[in-house]
Amino acid sequence: MRIRWSVVLVVTAAALGCSAAPAVALNNGVARTPPMGFNDWNAFGCNVNEQLIERSADAMVSSGMAAAGYRYVNIDDCWLSHTRNAAGDLVPDPHKFPHGIAAVAAYVHARGLELGIYEDAGDATCGAYPGSYGHDLEDARTFASWGVDYVKLDWCNTQGLNPQGEYRRMRDALLATGRPIVYSLSIWGVAFPWLWGPQTANLWRTTGDIKDSWQSVMQITALNAPLWRYARPGAWNDPDMLEVGNGGMTDTEYRTHFSLWAEMAAPLIAGTDVRRLSAPARTILTNRDVIAVDQDALGVQGHPVLRSGATSVWAKRLAGGDVAVLMLNSGDTPALVSAPLRKLGLRQTAHYVVRDLWTHRDTLSGPVLAAGVDRHGVAMFRVSPRSQASAPTVAVATSAATPYVAAGGPTRLTTTVVNSSPSTLHGLVVRPGLPGGWRSVPRVAAVGRLAPGASVTVTWDVQPPSAIGSWVTLHPAVSFSAGARPGSAGAPATLDVPPAPPHGSVDLTTIPWAYGSMTPTKGLSSRPRLNHSANDTPLKLNGVRYAHGLGVNAWSVVDYYLGGRCSSFTTDVGLDASVPMSKVLVQGTAQVSVLADGRVLFSRFMDWSMPTAHIDLPMTGVNELRLEVDATRDWIWGDAADWAGPRLQCQ
Ligand code: GAL
Repeated sequence: MRIRWSVVLVVTAAALGCSAAPAVALNNGVARTPPMGFNDWNAFGCNVNEQLIERSADAMVSSGMAAAGYRYVNIDDCWLSHTRNAAGDLVPDPHKFPHGIAAVAAYVHARGLELGIYEDAGDATCGAYPGSYGHDLEDARTFASWGVDYVKLDWCNTQGLNPQGEYRRMRDALLATGRPIVYSLSIWGVAFPWLWGPQTANLWRTTGDIKDSWQSVMQITALNAPLWRYARPGAWNDPDMLEVGNGGMTDTEYRTHFSLWAEMAAPLIAGTDVRRLSAPARTILTNRDVIAVDQDALGVQGHPVLRSGATSVWAKRLAGGDVAVLMLNSGDTPALVSAPLRKLGLRQTAHYVVRDLWTHRDTLSGPVLAAGVDRHGVAMFRVSPRSQASAPTVAVATSAATPYVAAGGPTRLTTTVVNSSPSTLHGLVVRPGLPGGWRSVPRVAAVGRLAPGASVTVTWDVQPPSAIGSWVTLHPAVSFSAGARPGSAGAPATLDVPPAPPHGSVDLTTIPWAYGSMTPTKGLSSRPRLNHSANDTPLKLNGVRYAHGLGVNAWSVVDYYLGGRCSSFTTDVGLDASVPMSKVLVQGTAQVSVLADGRVLFSRFMDWSMPTAHIDLPMTGVNELRLEVDATRDWIWGDAADWAGPRLQCQ
């Protein structure tokens, strides 16, 4: 069937004056739910070729990704030859794509998948290959003749051009081909694309490029979430592709990334090597319960409804009256999160069936839903306003008295159990779920009875072994009976049991950090660099070389556990100008901060032209020293900072 392409007027709530959403939407018949697929860029950069694309298509089928809904196999930048042919047409690089793009499209189509391709609205792509400027009609025709099903149009090398006008030109060129082609704007949030994106394209990037770091996911989430009113079937905010599986985050953080993207009705474009998916990455990417939230026919983007400290509760209305509830804990310690369900857009009833989208268990809840949520984690539920015999909803959350649990020392943990269900729990027994080698008094707590809506807190006096120096995940668990049926519940809780605090006068580069994360620059790891800049050059600030220090790129957080034993911290800090400027000529700018137990002791906006800052700060009584480098509004390009010659004075 041939789909008729047209730009149609859609009467929306905006036309009736009740929302900020635009009144006109592109209706090209595709991407009625957020597109799902694969793209090579995040994992391979410019190293793309036909084998990679075809083997990735095979892997999407064999890994179960295709069956879970992933359809588009997208070629990103660097697939082209450096010049057009004599007729002015684009030519694929003959070494990378010796059989041409049409052959790759045929290969992909034969596996039930669809092919995507990348171009740029300017004179050249970001990788400096020929751009589509002045060639929209012939390029659109070329893509259609090759059997391309998805076009991503980037925004490099567009000096002086107007995004709306340029992107409309390619929209019309694609419409004129008569082939249904998903149209994706890689516009990085420039010129408020959510305002004109819906009538122009199927999806538009709302932010700069995603990176494989927790900070990147949190930054992008903060920018994309408020735009929820602009998403609708056929027109989606695009917070960029997925990093799940690339190694810079923990599995918990990748589950959070994937859950947030689904809650925000984001395109789910896997950006990892799908030929070598780890078991956890496959489990995350193919979680059908979470995918069903993303792909829900109502096409509403979920958003945060309740916030408290580092936790938030999100709601996404689903077709049929269910709501996808996401509880996010962006903090550094486990938390108990709860929400009255009537505040989340659910019809008020006495009972709700709650499906945990990560454990795939159905339970019955009363009017307030609670969950223990690990640090950097989520709990995600599909809540239905109906009653059905199922196990009770019970939340279990463990926390420590302080953010750090000292190895070897006595510490106090508490486990709170919330009975969210309408039934009384009998014979409730709570276990702390400690790893081997940890001692606890008591070892088990028998609580007895817990009424509907009630909670109970158990305190454990715990002694961890003396040599740990890393994260430890506890698995607190409860058992009970409800009616005649036995039941159980639990939720992991990750605590930081840091390395021993430093002694004497120490060079910070000689002691381990308790937590170190940075946003990787191309090809480098997501850990801060020791004695090198983030770009692997020698540390250098304003012409001065330093032998010792930490090289990081925004966004970055490095925490040290001082255990209250130190008196001062000294360091030089500034932006490292030896980091080459990116493809977009922007100078590095960053907000550089030092925090002590969460208090800001130093914070300065810095760029390359500024003098090096010499910092000397008191640390008396401080448990956690945090070195933080944040990007400013121009994203993270060129934002490499050096903590140069950092030293602590301790007892
Ligand atoms: C960026 C774009 C990335 C990738 C890259 C290729 O502008 O945001 O997703 O396509 O260009 O050079």
